[in-house]
Formats: sequence, structure tokens, C-alpha cells
Amino acid sequence: MESCFPILLCGLCFMSLVLQISYALDSISAGQNITDGQTIVSAGGNFELGFFSPSNSKNRYVGISYKKPSAGRVVWVANRENPLKDSLGVLKLTPEGVLILLNHTDGVIWSSNVSRLAQNPIAQLLDSANFVVKEGNDNDLGDAIWQSFDHPCNSLLGGMKLGKDRAKAWTGYPQLILMHRSVVRSSSGPWNGIRFSGIPQLRPNPVYRFGFVFNQNEIYYYFNLLNSSIPSMLVLSENGIAQRFTWVDRTKGWILYSSAQTDDCDTYALCGRNGNCNIASSPKCMCLTGFVPKYTSDWEFGDWTNGCVRRTKLDCQGGDKFLKYTQVKLPDTRQSWFNESMNLQECEQTCLRNCSCVAYSNLDIRGQGSGCLLWFGYLMDIRQVNENVQEFYVRMAASEVGSSFSGNPGARKSTGIIVGTVLSAVLLLGIAAVFTKYRRDGQIFGFSHQSRSEDLDLPMFDLTTLVNATSNFSEDNKLGQGGFGAVYKGVLKNGQEIAVKRLSENSRQGQVEFRNEIAYIVKLQHRNLIKILGCCIQADEMMLIYEFLPNRSLDCFIFDQEKGVSLDWPRRFTIINGVALGLLYLHRDSRLRIIHRDLKAENILLDNEMNPKISDFGLARSFGGNESEANTKRVVGTFGYMSPEYAINGFYSVKSDVFSFGVLVLEIVSGKRNRGFNHPDKRLSLLGYAWTLSRDKKFMELIDPLIASTFNPVEVLRSIHVALLCVQNNPHDRPEMSSVVMMLSSESTLPQPKQPGFFDETSASDASSSSDSRHKKYSANEITISHLLPR
Ligand SMILES: *[C@@H]1O[C@H](CO)[C@@H](O)[C@H](O)[C@H]1NC(C)=O
Ligand SMILES: *[C@@H]1O[C@H](CO)[C@@H](O)[C@H](O)[C@H]1NC(C)=O
Ligand SMILES: *[C@@H]1O[C@H](CO)[C@@H](O)[C@H](O)[C@H]1NC(C)=O
Ligand SMILES: *[C@@H]1O[C@H](CO)[C@@H](O)[C@H](O)[C@H]1NC(C)=O
Ligand SMILES: *[C@@H]1O[C@H](CO)[C@@H](O)[C@H](O)[C@H]1NC(C)=O
Ligand SMILES: *[C@@H]1O[C@H](CO)[C@@H](O)[C@H](O)[C@H]1NC(C)=O
Repeated sequence: MESCFPILLCGLCFMSLVLQISYALDSISAGQNITDGQTIVSAGGNFELGFFSPSNSKNRYVGISYKKPSAGRVVWVANRENPLKDSLGVLKLTPEGVLILLNHTDGVIWSSNVSRLAQNPIAQLLDSANFVVKEGNDNDLGDAIWQSFDHPCNSLLGGMKLGKDRAKAWTGYPQLILMHRSVVRSSSGPWNGIRFSGIPQLRPNPVYRFGFVFNQNEIYYYFNLLNSSIPSMLVLSENGIAQRFTWVDRTKGWILYSSAQTDDCDTYALCGRNGNCNIASSPKCMCLTGFVPKYTSDWEFGDWTNGCVRRTKLDCQGGDKFLKYTQVKLPDTRQSWFNESMNLQECEQTCLRNCSCVAYSNLDIRGQGSGCLLWFGYLMDIRQVNENVQEFYVRMAASEVGSSFSGNPGARKSTGIIVGTVLSAVLLLGIAAVFTKYRRDGQIFGFSHQSRSEDLDLPMFDLTTLVNATSNFSEDNKLGQGGFGAVYKGVLKNGQEIAVKRLSENSRQGQVEFRNEIAYIVKLQHRNLIKILGCCIQADEMMLIYEFLPNRSLDCFIFDQEKGVSLDWPRRFTIINGVALGLLYLHRDSRLRIIHRDLKAENILLDNEMNPKISDFGLARSFGGNESEANTKRVVGTFGYMSPEYAINGFYSVKSDVFSFGVLVLEIVSGKRNRGFNHPDKRLSLLGYAWTLSRDKKFMELIDPLIASTFNPVEVLRSIHVALLCVQNNPHDRPEMSSVVMMLSSESTLPQPKQPGFFDETSASDASSSSDSRHKKYSANEITISHLLPR
């Protein structure tokens, strides 16, 4: 009887095999083959592998193509160098795990290279388009014997690794280089922790997340799709340009999403050694400051290949200096040296000590900026970029370096003007388009989803519409004055109520950056964020248009004896949780990692049902201007909500927002403002007072009497406890917003909070007076301060 069992099992296996064949297979096992006309399809139906011919050709190739949504688009080809001449080819998997493509006389057309032999291999097409050979019983892809992703053709798909092979000898710090035969066509510049120095257009976006891995074993660039139904891939075009395409829909197909190479200055080494390419100047090429053309006559005729040489020789022993550049793509790193743990001072010293070192820079611009990159010999492939993130220091003879001189060329000003002019030309066209559209479609005047191809559907409002809607920005319509300008109520012709933020002149930045930033901010959507309806850039005006919320802001309620009654505890707890979720979205889920920097009761608006909506998000990012994300010379924010490290040193991170959130929660619970709070006998700040009460287990004294009859003790205590964790002095002790959200809703035990920042009134005023000693500017209502910190 026992022998029945195996027979039964075999029968079942056989059946399932038969069934699988009648569906589309996604794999072949050893000894099996795929002949011309057969295909295998990945399990989710995204990709297909089989034989194909390009248009206008009878040659046959084995390749992988999209099956949906964009049927037929080829993403990988096996025998690209060696086509089959007829339809009699066959692709086989040998018992050793080697894929071979044979012609009808059994000649090998192509084969996969393997480093080890398999026992029981299968070759499987995955839903990512990766075709892998692995042991049949092995689910761990890390163990693949061979995979097509290691041999990309001209398409880089989500999940592929570009680079990978660290075993190869290489010198200098890694960068991406695009080569045609042995000629370098363009280079990415080194990775700066966020993106490649020479590809500033590589930014957080709604379609894919990208990154660069550089460790002991591997070096590669990769991207992952954020939504598999919106495919996107990087394609190397026939003329050698890396372009990203994204699938829109059946009618529009693949659209060009971005291009790594945008203009002539991206041509590798266009300006030769020690040259600097500036697309906005004429001629494009100039020498770095202190350098002169090697052959002046060639240079004048537009032949820049021989580059530039120093005007004054270096004097390594006598002491050289460095000239700082901020808006450049860093040069080719093939003759470089790096150390990831040095700081910038050590870096400078190391460069000074080695006479062949010609420049240095930090490696990673995140955080405080760290690491050291040194260049030797000469500098190649530098260009101007419109971004001010990485500092680059070029070694110069001391006599060439004036006292307060910076290497950014005078042409920078003209860059701004030229770019500005081009852009406003485009904008003018854009506005003309709005008018035409209006006449044709009879839309509400001036409101249009104008979309230029590179725009992300940014709704533009017409200035006239806004002037009419707000009675010419009259005082009666003014809702308030915030950090970035005044806010007006408006009513559109169709009756819709809007709030218009008119950005004050001194918070304005370039129109290009503004448009880019706003295009992203408009995409941020969360039920606890105020909805942005669009923007207006016209004449000298820059404005943002929001939904209008009749209940105004949280401060009107919690700090008001009469209106405060209507915010009972359940409502307040909803608000605390809602703000936490909105902030979590900004920090983590929005893909932009926005730090609000000015979270306060005034910036929490309430809808009809008293749900909180965070406003003014993204503006700090948008108007932080040219500083790096972590350390800013211009502190925006509101005293009383600012974390110590931010108020005093200008250092901010997501943890600065966490601090403000903690302050806000304590204000909501207590009904008292932190700013100006002064305990009659203890000289404590609200934070210090709450901490002392919590230590002495006397919470009740903190709670707003207006919620005395409605509060839930467990929720209130938990809120206070979480708030105290958020306002701890050391940013590292504060939780992330994701933990805050969990802590608010769970019953887990919480850690004991340490002493809060700005514990007493004295320390708080210390901070404000230390700010006073710097250039400080109060806005009209003296709430938002903005000051410059010395570097
Ligand atoms: C391909 O496989 C089929 C059945 O699995 C077999 O009949 C055929 O001979 C194979 N072709 C080649 C060229 O190996
Ligand atoms: C098959 O391939 C082999 C090796 O590439 C080649 O020598 C032979 O000519 C090919 N046969 C045909 C009919 O193409
Ligand atoms: C396989 O590897 C060898 C040596 O590493 C190389 O010469 C050959 O071109 C490779 N073949 C393929 C098809 O990649
Ligand atoms: C992915 O994109 C599709 C089509 O645009 C959309 O319907 C779907 O909601 C998106 N999914 C996610 C998780 O964003
Ligand atoms: C990198 O710099 C650190 C700090 O200066 C030093 O301790 C370390 O030895 C350096 N590493 C190399 C490989 O030079
Ligand atoms: C300077 O650095 C280069 C490259 O790392 C190295 O080959 C050379 O020996 C160094 N020279 C001195 C004097 O340290």
C-alpha cells in the first residue's frame, strides 16, 4: 500500500505541469527549450521573452519585451551582436545551467557565462524583467547563477543595478561615465550623498526612487519604481544620451520624462583641462579663475580642447591657498583620492600636504557634510550648475586669491538674467495659451490646467482673476500675515472661496526654482495638509492659492477662553493625531522629505469638522534658497516652537519639526502658549513646567480647565508623555514622527523623557539674545524671525 503514495504524487506533479503548459510558462528547466514563435511570460504578465525582429529587418533576436502596458517594447536582447538569419533558432537551458542560443545547424550564436555549475537549474523570467538562472529549489535571488540584469543593454529598468562590479580595478571616487567605444561622452560627476553632482535634475519625484550604493562589495546606481503600473526606464539613445521615459497611457505612450544630458556643457570635457563650461555665457567655455587659455588663438576660435593653464605657478612649500566654488559640477574623479571619514578641515590639510593635489571637496552633503575628495594633476569636465549644494576648493597660488574672493565667476549674474529671460519668454507663451484656452473652452477666466511637457500639471491662476477675487488685495480681505507673506481671502467668479498667499518680496527666489518646487508641492496630498489649488507667477508677483477653511486656525481656539470650549478633548485628540499624520507624511511618505520648519498653532487650520490641516508646508524648503538642507544661514521659524539646535546654531532636521510638534501638543493640552509662558514662582517655560509636573506626577495642574469635563485621562497622559519625548534637548533622543504616531495610538510603555530644551525662561531668552547679536530681522508681527548666522 505504501507505494501508492509516490505514484499519486507523481501523478499530481504531472497534472500540474500539464496545466502550467496550457497557461503561459514563466520558466524553462534543464533540457527544455524555447523555439522561435514560443514565448515565456512573467508570472504577473508584465514581460515576455521570445524571438523578435526589429522593424525593417529579417534578423531574429532573443529578447525580453513589455507585455503590458506597452506591448512589444524591447528592454533586453541576448544576441545583439550576432543575429540569427532565420526563424529556426532555439534557446536551451543546459543541465549545467548555461543558456545557449543555437541556429539550426547547432552553431552557438550566444551563451550565458556562468562562474559555477548548477545541479538542477531553471531559467525564470521575473515580473521585474529579470531573466534568472538559478537552482530550481532556490528562492533566494542573491544566489542566482546568472541574471540578465547583470548584462543590461540600452535600457535600465527599475531594480537593475548600474555598475555593480567592484571586482574590476578602478581608481578614484566612483562616477557614471557614458562611453562610446572607448571615447567618454559624458560623466555624471561624483555622487554627493543625494544625487550626482552633474545631474541636478535628478530629484525626488512621484515616479521612482533612486540611490547609489557604494560599499566593500558593490558600487551601483539603481532606481525603484514607486508604482508598478507607472513604468519608467532609463534608455541610452542611439546618439548616446541617457533619457528617462515614463509610460503615461495607451494614447500618449512613453513620454520623455527627463534627460541626463541637457546641453552642450554636458559633453565630456568640452572646455578642456581646467576649463569651466557655462551654457549661458558666450563663448560657453572659460578658464577657471586664475587660469588662462593654453593657446589663446585656438581658444578664441572656439577650439577649447587644449584647455587652460595656471597664470601663476603654485608654490607648494611657500603656502598655497584655495578658491571656493559653489555652483559647479565636480570634475572627473578618475584621478582622485577619497576618505569617507575626514572632515573638511582635515581634507584641506591633506590636500595642502601633497603638492600634486589641485582641489578638494566634501563627499557627502547630507547632515553636516563630511568626507574628503581630492583631485590630482588637472581638473576636467567642470560646468556651472544652477544649484548651490557642494563646496569645491581649487588650489591657487596665494597671490591669486584675494581676501574675500570666491571663484564663482562674474558671469553668474548674467546666467540669472539669461535664464530669467528665457523662462519669462516661456511663461509669456504659457499665459497666451491660457487666454486661447479660455476663449475656446469658455472656462472660468484664467483658471487652467496648463501643462507644458516638463511641467507636472501645475495649475496656474491668472493675476487678474486673483486681483478681482480679493478686491485688489484689500485690507478687508486680509486673513493674516505669515512668514512668507500676507494671506487674503478671495472668491472666484464661480463662487469658490480661496485663500491667496502673496509672497513677500524678500522671500522670493528665482522663478525657475519656484516653479519646480511648487510643481512638487502641489502634488502633496494628504487629508491633514491644506490643499494647494495652484499658483500665479506674473509680473513681479508670486502667489499660492489654497482652499479656504472658514474655521481659521487652531490658535483662535486653544488660546481663547470662549471659543476654547467648543474644542473638547476628543476633538483636541483628533487634532493631535491628525497633525502627527500630516507631519509624518511630509517627513517620510511624501517622497520629498519636507521639513516644515514653522509648525505652530497658527499654521494648523481647521475644516468644517474641526479636522486639522497643516499649512505653509514646503515653503521653508522652497524658500530656504541655496543652502544645503541641513544647515542654513537664514533661520525661519517662530520663537517658542524652534528647537534649541535650530534657534542657536541654525541646524535643522526632521527632529526640529518633532520638537515643534511636542510644543504644540503641550499647548493643546494646557491651553497656554509656550511663548511668553512664565510660571509665577518657578521661572519655568511651559516645557520645563510640564516636565517638572510629570516628574512629580502632578499632571492635572497642566490640563486646560476647559477640557476638565471631557478628557480621557489615559489619552491626555499619553499625549503629555509623547510631547515631552518630542521636546527633549538632544535631537537624537527625540522620536521620529513614525514612532510618535505609533506611541499616540498604542498602549506600549514609553521611555522616560529627559530634560526638555529651553527648560526655563532664562535659557529661552539666552537663545533669543544670542540671536539678537546676529543680523536679525523681525517681520511685521514680530513672530517670525529670520536671521543670518555666521559660518
Ligand atoms: C525542444 O524541446 C522539444 C520538447 O521539449 C523537443 O522535441 C525538441 O527536439 C527540442 N529542440 C531542440 C532543438 O533541442
Ligand atoms: C550556425 O552558427 C555557426 C556558428 O556561429 C556558423 O558557423 C554557421 O554558419 C551557422 N549556420 C547557419 C545556417 O547560419
Ligand atoms: C564569457 O567570459 C569570457 C571570459 O571571461 C569572455 O571572454 C567571453 O566573451 C564571455 N562570453 C559572453 C557571451 O559573455
Ligand atoms: C498606481 O497608479 C495607478 C494608475 O495611475 C493608480 O490607479 C493607483 O492608485 C496607483 N497606486 C498607488 C499605490 O499609488
Ligand atoms: C581617513 O581619515 C581618518 C580621519 O582622519 C583616518 O583616521 C583614516 O586613517 C583615514 N583613512 C585612510 C585610508 O587614509
Ligand atoms: C600625493 O598623492 C598621490 C595620489 O594619492 C600619491 O601617489 C603621492 O605619493 C602623494 N605624494 C605625497 C608627497 O604624499
